[in-house]
Amino acid sequence: MKKDIKILAIESSCDETAAAVIGADEKGGPVILSSVVSSQVDLHAKTGGVVPEVASRAHMEAIVPIITEALIQSGVGSREQGAGVPDYTDAIEILQNHIDYIAVTAGPGLIGSLLVGFNAAKTIAYSLDKPIIPVNHIEGHIYSPLATTENKFEFPVLTLTVSGGHTSLTLLRDHVEYETIGGTKDDAAGEAFDKVAKLLGLGYPGGPEVSKLASEFRSKNEKTSFLFPRPILNDGTFNFSFSGLKTAVLQHVLNVKKERELTENDKEEICAAFEDASVDVLTTKAMRAVEKYKPKTLVLAGGVAANKRLREILKQKVDSCESQINLLIPSIDLCGDNAAMIGVAVFYHLQKGNVSTWQEVKCDSNLEIGSRS
Ligand code: KG4
Ligand code: ZN
Repeated sequence: MKKDIKILAIESSCDETAAAVIGADEKGGPVILSSVVSSQVDLHAKTGGVVPEVASRAHMEAIVPIITEALIQSGVGSREQGAGVPDYTDAIEILQNHIDYIAVTAGPGLIGSLLVGFNAAKTIAYSLDKPIIPVNHIEGHIYSPLATTENKFEFPVLTLTVSGGHTSLTLLRDHVEYETIGGTKDDAAGEAFDKVAKLLGLGYPGGPEVSKLASEFRSKNEKTSFLFPRPILNDGTFNFSFSGLKTAVLQHVLNVKKERELTENDKEEICAAFEDASVDVLTTKAMRAVEKYKPKTLVLAGGVAANKRLREILKQKVDSCESQINLLIPSIDLCGDNAAMIGVAVFYHLQKGNVSTWQEVKCDSNLEIGSRS
């Protein structure tokens, strides 16, 4: 593998159209040269959730401008200073002459969304005869902390990935080798945050809104006057379940509404109790997995990893844990969906010689981590 590689990465599995260029630093690690994300949040806020057909159409409109922007912002290329505003011609020059590999999310996700980024990547690989490397969206999240130069994986690595579509505990004994040790039996953690927010009439996406109200409650009160259940906390597995918790929130809301309308304080307290229960289940199961698998590195990643409470409680538990373990959490801008994490994952696939041609790659909305598409 040559030292100064450049990877163009593309991600469109849900409601973010993203592209990034990843290079290598002098120590041979990945470095983000550019990362551009076009979010469809405003579009989906109107419906309180992602409408797949609307998402694919928005990806179609955004994909070429976003790839162009990522290429231009990367600063790669032979463009002379003061040569005017860069445009598609400059992007194509970078693509043709400086990009070595195309990285793309091949699943899991919404098929109509995935196909937009996937076919864009495949078309580039085909027309410019470039190698292409398909990536599982979850492995992108797992690799997101390594977009920060100081962070390194020391194996074994245990990862807790919490997003709108996934909740999983995965063990890596080496780069890009995955063993799933637990997952959700029903809703994903982020999905539960989104549903609770919808139930309380809060905005979309729900996670940040629930988190905001929960901190408002905690700034005024020591603790909540009630607790929500911690589903399957003591079932002896590393699995999760959030649908019972969501139903408990609904039941609580219905009980209050028998007497009166929900006040702002009720909503804040519900958010705090819900966040406490979710964070408790996630961190307790993760720490039990730490006890069993004795990882040297623990990764918290995915959209829900932006949650302040989750970050804090996990850090506290790791700090008070007997074994020496390095906790890696991506910066907030790398928690949500982005293409930089996809490019970083590919950086490590390349070290293992995992490269494909456009004829070989497939897109799969149910792609499992560890299976090569
Ligand atoms: O990783 P992501 O951007 O997309 C998927 O792969 O699903 O995750 C999005 C999820 C949404 O459910 C959103 O509500 C949640 O991450 N989220 C949060 C926070 N910020 C985003 N959940 C809890 N607290 C937050 N601060
Ligand atoms: Zn994601």
